[in-house]
Amino acid sequence: MTLTQKESWGTRVGLILAMAGNAVGLGNFLRFPVQAVNNGGGAFIIPYLVCFLLMGIPLLWIEWSMGRFGGRSNNHSTPFILDSMTKRAFWKYFGVFGIFTNIAVAAYYCYIESWTMSYVWHSVAGTFNDLSQIQVAEFFRNYLDISSSHSGIPYEAVVFYVLCLLLNTWILSRGLAGVERAAKIGMPLLILFGIFLAFRGITLGTSGASAEVPTASAWDGLNFLWTPQFDSLSNPKVWLAAAGQIFFTLSVGMGTIHCYAAYVKSKDDIALNAVSAGFTNEFVEVVLGSLIVIPIAAGYLGLDWVKENAGFGMAFQTMPFLFEKWGPFLSAAAGVMWFGLLFFAGITSSLAMGTPWMGFMRDEFGWGRKKGAWTFGLIVLLLGLPTVIFYQQGVFDEYDYWAGTVALVVFALAETVLFAWIFGMDKGWKELMSGSDLKVPSIYKFIIKYITPAMLLVVFLGALFTPLDNDWTGALNSLFSGNGWALDHGSIIKTIANSGLHEQLAAATNAKEITRLEDRLFFTNLARILLTLTFLGLALLVYIAGLRRMRTSKHKAK
Ligand code: PHE
Repeated sequence: MTLTQKESWGTRVGLILAMAGNAVGLGNFLRFPVQAVNNGGGAFIIPYLVCFLLMGIPLLWIEWSMGRFGGRSNNHSTPFILDSMTKRAFWKYFGVFGIFTNIAVAAYYCYIESWTMSYVWHSVAGTFNDLSQIQVAEFFRNYLDISSSHSGIPYEAVVFYVLCLLLNTWILSRGLAGVERAAKIGMPLLILFGIFLAFRGITLGTSGASAEVPTASAWDGLNFLWTPQFDSLSNPKVWLAAAGQIFFTLSVGMGTIHCYAAYVKSKDDIALNAVSAGFTNEFVEVVLGSLIVIPIAAGYLGLDWVKENAGFGMAFQTMPFLFEKWGPFLSAAAGVMWFGLLFFAGITSSLAMGTPWMGFMRDEFGWGRKKGAWTFGLIVLLLGLPTVIFYQQGVFDEYDYWAGTVALVVFALAETVLFAWIFGMDKGWKELMSGSDLKVPSIYKFIIKYITPAMLLVVFLGALFTPLDNDWTGALNSLFSGNGWALDHGSIIKTIANSGLHEQLAAATNAKEITRLEDRLFFTNLARILLTLTFLGLALLVYIAGLRRMRTSKHKAK
């Protein structure tokens, strides 16, 4: 096998922007505000920051170190990065997660990304002008119901999804330089648009109050998010949500950071770069992410409305209607900025998801960039079309749950154990410190070895055995008084068994409702089969790659 020449990042700024672009994503603007509102606003923020310091930052350092370490021996994706750190052969199969999760998340993530493209277009075209709040919400519902041609473009959701994948594939086919370029254009624009909209969020005050909602105030929204409440510190539900958000937003536990870091030159800094990218993400999330949707929605519709309606659709169902209040020109501009910002946030993340597959196929099978990029696009299309076509039946949610939530925790736990306990903390620390421009306080040696894995374990067990109605105190009391532990339908164990759906089915009497639930059950299982097949397919490739390595006895020094 001819080894392709070494690829690496063009400039340090490019690397940091690409890494920040990888982390800054739809999660910052769509997921964070909703998680914060649903977990008590100011009650969320303390567990969130603690998770950032004790889990997020350590995982960033672990992943950057592993990546650069692997890159040195020409390994650019997690199966063989993990393999290069240990003598045991099975670790490379854990590494399969680092390709799988990216592909599976890309499948549904690009769908949301494609909505943002379409909404930029509709903002320019003035589709939302003069629509009522109900009509704007209806537009979104129709959009998701792919066969209805609400705006004149038949199958619009599919069309934009395919366009979005084509754009991603095309940029990826230009290699790291393409990714770097996209980040250099996308990130500054995103921040510019974000600051403009945040300015609106801050200055709106009570000027949006109306006869229908006389008490509407943007300040209520901000106060709700920003007044710390200490009573939630003892609530595991809030902690689990905070940990989940930290994972998703920093893109840790995915394999993407390893891949990007594998292209860092071996003498370059990683400790400071990791922190810079991490803090950029937190600035965008905590500052910009909380100054837009929540205050603007509270400013026109009131905080109570926000609390009741907080959800992922808010950005698409409500924002275009609220922008209308700023007159035709400003509303078009605000729409372009808001959905443009989301688009840039999305694409700099979805590009990152393509790189582990490309790196793997290049390392192991000598594939060029074009072949790597186009096969990635094709696999994502095949895996992603069911999320588009059967969105209502729950395929999308299923991917988000297994790939976008559970897999991250599993992989993060495994890699932390590998890094701190098997590879060894001393070796790991040396790797992190080599070429470093930042003197990391040595307390982090202790944190990475004990605190981070312990927290990950707690998060994992908490998700596995979530008690009924998230009532931890009740569950613990019941356990100690010998009455057992009742699991919630949201726990991983009950989710595997589809308990919630079965219960609803048993209680359903209306024929239409029964068909709907049966459909949902069917598509939920279908989604799981597709995900499992993808994982097994990738594991097979890793197995073949392992055999090839043995044959060419291209053994790396362990
Ligand atoms: N961090 C991204 C976001 O906040 C999501 C993402 C996950 C990106 C995994 C890349 C890899 O939306």
